[in-house]
Amino acid sequence: MVPSSRLSGLHETSREERLARVAEATGLDASMVAAFAAASAPLGETADHLVENVIGTINVPLGIATNMTVDGEDVLVPMATEESSVVAAVCNGARQCRGAGGITTSTTGSLMIAQLQVLGLADPFATRAALFERKTEIAALCDAVDPMLVKLGGGLRDIEVRILDTDPPMTIVHLIVDTRDAMGANAVNTMAETLAPDIERWTGGRVSLRILSNLADRRLVRARGLWPAEAIGGEAVRDGIIAAGIFAAADPYRAATHNKGIMNGVSAVVLATGNDTRAVEAGAHAYAARSGRYSALTRWEKTADGALAGTLEMPLAVGIVGGATRVHPTARMALDIMGITTADRLARVAGAVGLVQNFSALKALATEGIQRGHMSLHAKNVAIAAGAQGPEIVAVARELVARKAVRVEVAEEVLATLRAAPKP
Ligand code: MEV
Repeated sequence: MVPSSRLSGLHETSREERLARVAEATGLDASMVAAFAAASAPLGETADHLVENVIGTINVPLGIATNMTVDGEDVLVPMATEESSVVAAVCNGARQCRGAGGITTSTTGSLMIAQLQVLGLADPFATRAALFERKTEIAALCDAVDPMLVKLGGGLRDIEVRILDTDPPMTIVHLIVDTRDAMGANAVNTMAETLAPDIERWTGGRVSLRILSNLADRRLVRARGLWPAEAIGGEAVRDGIIAAGIFAAADPYRAATHNKGIMNGVSAVVLATGNDTRAVEAGAHAYAARSGRYSALTRWEKTADGALAGTLEMPLAVGIVGGATRVHPTARMALDIMGITTADRLARVAGAVGLVQNFSALKALATEGIQRGHMSLHAKNVAIAAGAQGPEIVAVARELVARKAVRVEVAEEVLATLRAAPKP
């Protein structure tokens, strides 16, 4: 336990001083601090401006998924993830649907929703009708907040007024805004806050919350892919994947894990491009529960000619301007690697990766299980945790897999034996 978590003025000091103060307060070992500082160096000053009280960065591996074709264009996809086998799974799954054209996508546009919670209305239904009469006025007020967005073709598109079945009923105004290439949180939140006093004046109510909804169900991506049975190991494998999909669609316990696997791919692309992984994940899971029962974000079927058809549908609110996307050098390079110039294309690629990721997970689960592939990659992490360095890492990892014992204490023993062995 730290003696006191009150480190006053921490935000006013340099990154080095902050690290020193945290190290002193928590009694960190000097070699640990030095290793951390060295690993943190690459992001340089950018990190200091992204969040508060920065002491460094945590580096997550950035891998490249190969073999992806999205809407007829090949694309190399950078994925930021700490989880072994996620990138390899996309490379393999994409290879097996390449011959049939890869992944085809569509999107419903770049509409985000901001919510205003209006309280204290005596006549919510009459107020609702009156608010719709002001739609043009509301659009003008919202668009005035962000003239640049309007110039780029965005701005307020519509309003909704919902009356929640609460006691007393609560009136919720939705601003539906086209945020174009931005994820749009800042734009729509500013619009909601700007509009609130006018809503209060018009309705006589009190506006409390003014914030976007992460259930971005007007910013959907749909992805579709075909895997010929002969490309995936035969009809039994295909049928196993279809049965796995039916399981996830019917059972929330399975759907949570199924969708987590999809998000292994989607979130890795979202993170690599400096986008908000929590926003996308919140939207995905809320969308998965839209029927009132949590279900799968993908469906798996057999086509008339016996191929496996996979489809994915989920909200994917990402941007290529604003937030960390333009500031973070890795995010900028990730977009360049993909040749991405619109948020729409980024959403399509991320959705396509999610579908392929799900294919690979279900294929592994319906056949040999995930542990063999997972463990052979995870074995390297275990070898490193046991202290292996350089060529020792692969040697120790191989031995762990051969022994079917991917555990740190076994790795330590293998490493000790390796080091004690006479060198050739
Ligand atoms: C592990 O990170 C992801 C899986 O559990 C996904 C799934 O079960 O579909 C393998």
